[in-house]
Amino acid sequence: VDQKHIRNFCIIAHIDHGKSTLADRLIEFTGVLTKREMEDQVLDTMDLERERGITIKAQSVRMDYTADDGEHYVLNLIDTPGHVDFTYEVSRALAACEGALLVVDASQGIEAQTLANVYMALEHDLEIIPVINKIDLPSAEPEKVKREIEEVIGLDTSIAIMASAKTGIGMKEILEAVVNFVPPPQGDERAPLRALIYDSFYDSYKGVVTYFRVFDGTVRKGDRIRFMATGKEFIVDDLYVFRPGLTPVDELRAGEVGALAAAIREVKNVRVGDTITRADNPAREPLPGYRKATPMVFTGLYPVESNDYGRLRDALEKLQLNDASLSFEPETSEALGFGFRCGFLGLLHMDVIQERLEREFDLNLITTAPNVVYRINLTGGGQVMIENPADWPDQTMIESVEEPVVKASIITPSEYVGPLMELCQDRRGTFINMEYLNEKRVNLHYKLPLSEIMYDFFDQLKTRSRGYASFDYEVTGYEQADMVKMDILLNGDPVDALSCIVHRDKAQKLGRSLVTRLRKLIPRQLFEVPIQAAIGNKILARENIAPLRKDVLAKCYGGDVTRKRKLLEKQKEGKKRMKAVGSVEIPQEAFMAVLSTD
Ligand code: GTP
Repeated sequence: VDQKHIRNFCIIAHIDHGKSTLADRLIEFTGVLTKREMEDQVLDTMDLERERGITIKAQSVRMDYTADDGEHYVLNLIDTPGHVDFTYEVSRALAACEGALLVVDASQGIEAQTLANVYMALEHDLEIIPVINKIDLPSAEPEKVKREIEEVIGLDTSIAIMASAKTGIGMKEILEAVVNFVPPPQGDERAPLRALIYDSFYDSYKGVVTYFRVFDGTVRKGDRIRFMATGKEFIVDDLYVFRPGLTPVDELRAGEVGALAAAIREVKNVRVGDTITRADNPAREPLPGYRKATPMVFTGLYPVESNDYGRLRDALEKLQLNDASLSFEPETSEALGFGFRCGFLGLLHMDVIQERLEREFDLNLITTAPNVVYRINLTGGGQVMIENPADWPDQTMIESVEEPVVKASIITPSEYVGPLMELCQDRRGTFINMEYLNEKRVNLHYKLPLSEIMYDFFDQLKTRSRGYASFDYEVTGYEQADMVKMDILLNGDPVDALSCIVHRDKAQKLGRSLVTRLRKLIPRQLFEVPIQAAIGNKILARENIAPLRKDVLAKCYGGDVTRKRKLLEKQKEGKKRMKAVGSVEIPQEAFMAVLSTD
């Protein structure tokens, strides 16, 4: 195909505005798959994604389309991951396109991630085609949403399309708009190969399958290629296009989108954002934009059964093959034994990985409360990055502490502004400004510490706005904050896995509520157990867990052995998710107790 007849585009949308459904309808319309062949939502492949209804890994599809002008076109739809944690992957997928369909739900209007995605698309100079979706809904207000897009984003909506991905209205108009308004690629076919990697996945037979967009030159089966960031070289075993399954082809030329397999055994050799070139005739400069994805949120993961340690390590290694942004290293806790310190891009990423470990690998895990990475300036000069509260330096060594901060955008009906501002204030937020999107909706901008939005912020946001507010954030840098390490002592001994980093002004209140909650969560023992929260030697709060009045076994005085065993067994059941810390049994919930700050 020559480049004049190629269109590369993506769909951007706020969660649930209908991105996947629209992709399905377009695939069906162009006849890539018949309705009967098509599983619901082919683009979202992972089980977890389907269950949560969100897109995590990008998938792509190539569609053939004969337009009204009688010409035959190849339309490559590049799916972008839909969540803020994966911003960098979204940005790479956008960089592989010339245009974007901006899907906005006609009954909801512009939401926080609509704006975040639009700004990113504009940064990449994409041609944006507004699609007002779900016009079949009785509550749809397409004209109002159209005005909103024009006024708030400043897009020309004269080419906007009214659509329903559910009923199929507007599909042909969308494809015609893609052909007519998205510019064709303009790569140099004779230049040395330059292809942008925008995604990858691990296949146990083929190794790493790399998704890319060719900008210049041509790649063929059998070529020796080089990844410019890592310098690693491989021979191309197979080339594919997406139909939507991987379909073999012999070559891919400037402007085309596809995938390759080259017996690559490690995902870390293939980095999203890197440029592929040919080893015998390399490009001088890579394409712009390779950046390493840095984990922002860390947590300790421990097997409940200590002999599952090896299985946990194997599972993490397997997941890492699919997901280069997951990091982990062994750590030991006095309380929990051998485990791993794991780093994630954000909270959703963390949730997804934990769930996969438990579900796909059948592991029973104890997770410690997540924390962000702190930058500590030491009194003697020098800086350290702290990922683990256990590594927090002695207070006397600390000159100052810096924490990651985000710029947050909250879009909400104006009647909830009061409670939401209160929430942000309470989470140490700094008000930046407030814009009116129309008479009834506003966009609130706040600067907030990342650590403060980890703890149930999203739930609070939803509760205080009756579900109407949407939220997006981007990490903007580090700022000084008066953070201290709070220890939790059981029976006078600090439990390392319960230590957390808190703001000094909040330590007292948090310490008190934490010990109160722990008192309720930790079952009574045979003896009285004091729980204390402390900063250094200073005790902030204390509660006692009263001793058990009666030993369970006391009932079996008669010495009936079977009955006694049964009772013991019953007790053991209840302990499944408990860890013995010294002489005290601690349930999983206790390690996460710090997460809810009621
Ligand atoms: P993410 O993958 O999380 O970004 O969500 P999405 O934007 O892909 O949304 P999805 O396609 O999963 O659609 C969300 C919900 O809206 C689903 O229940 C769809 O059935 C529904 N939906 C999508 N398009 C339409 C439409 O045109 N009309 C109506 N009534 N419902 C729609």
